[in-house]
Amino acid sequence: MSLKETLLDSLEHILLPSPTVFITGALIVVLIPILLHLLIARTSPYTSPPQILLLGPPASGKTALTTLLERPDNDGGPSPTHTSQTAHSVELTASADAATRADHKANARDTSTAHTKFLLLDTPGHPKLRQQNLARLAPAALESSKTKAVVFVLDASSIAADPDVLTPTAAYLHDVLLALQKRTANIKTSKIPAAIPVLVAANKMDLFTALPAALVRANLEAEISRIRVSRSKGLLDSGVGVDEMDTEDNDDWLGSYGTEKFSFDQMMEFNVYIDVIGGNVSGDGPGVDRWWKWIADRI
Ligand code: GTP
Ligand code: MG
Repeated sequence: MSLKETLLDSLEHILLPSPTVFITGALIVVLIPILLHLLIARTSPYTSPPQILLLGPPASGKTALTTLLERPDNDGGPSPTHTSQTAHSVELTASADAATRADHKANARDTSTAHTKFLLLDTPGHPKLRQQNLARLAPAALESSKTKAVVFVLDASSIAADPDVLTPTAAYLHDVLLALQKRTANIKTSKIPAAIPVLVAANKMDLFTALPAALVRANLEAEISRIRVSRSKGLLDSGVGVDEMDTEDNDDWLGSYGTEKFSFDQMMEFNVYIDVIGGNVSGDGPGVDRWWKWIADRI
């Protein structure tokens, strides 16, 4: 048999609809896109950056803080903000050894240091939009958004001056912490999810009415103690039996069950670590450096 004949023969064999040819063809069509996808996904492991979630009551300074961190060169005070109606995220870069915003600015230009990109999600504080924000704390939502930490911004100047500010602020924080507590309390498997730390950013320290961080903490703990009692009474009134309330794994009780006073330390039991740090976005005071460092350490 000549070479030409052999070639024609094998060509005919390939072109004839045989099962081997079909199977090989089908395998190539199916496998190549899968292999390509795996290859690309492996070479770029961070398809979406991790996220820091900004929560807090209205007018506490979340948008002012977001604007300041987004434009570190803008040191002429915050630009005027208005009540946010939708969540808004900005991309920021944290550098492991940037202690202050000034360092951060310098490091961002220096390409030799390691940087991590992350998203800061500014949310609206209005109570009507609160459920949307609390939904972001559901285990699946935290997982898919790669949320690393929660920053709860509050106005430390009006917490003391205005009695109508402490209660709603503490109630919002109570709900945030309860959502995070449920995340670990309801774990059925032995796989404990990564802790989501919480920073209570006591803002507006430039104002003379502002409470120092330690007092903000004490006021919040006392108010949350009251809130969790009234919430459990509410449950009793709504027909939940006393026996049902008296179980060890009471789902809606924040912190250690059966304690009279709530403290942030009780949340450690549920792998929730809370820091209260004072600062200010505008005016003279400690500024935002300690908050920035806290965030950069958790990215
Ligand atoms: P919502 O979008 O309604 O949830 O409010 P927010 O938390 O985004 O508040 P925003 O950033 O809009 O700030 C409310 C007001 O507080 C603005 O007038 C800010 O300029 C002011 N503010 C923010 N931070 C500070 C601060 O550190 N000191 C002082 N004195 N005012 C501040
Ligand atoms: Mg806002």
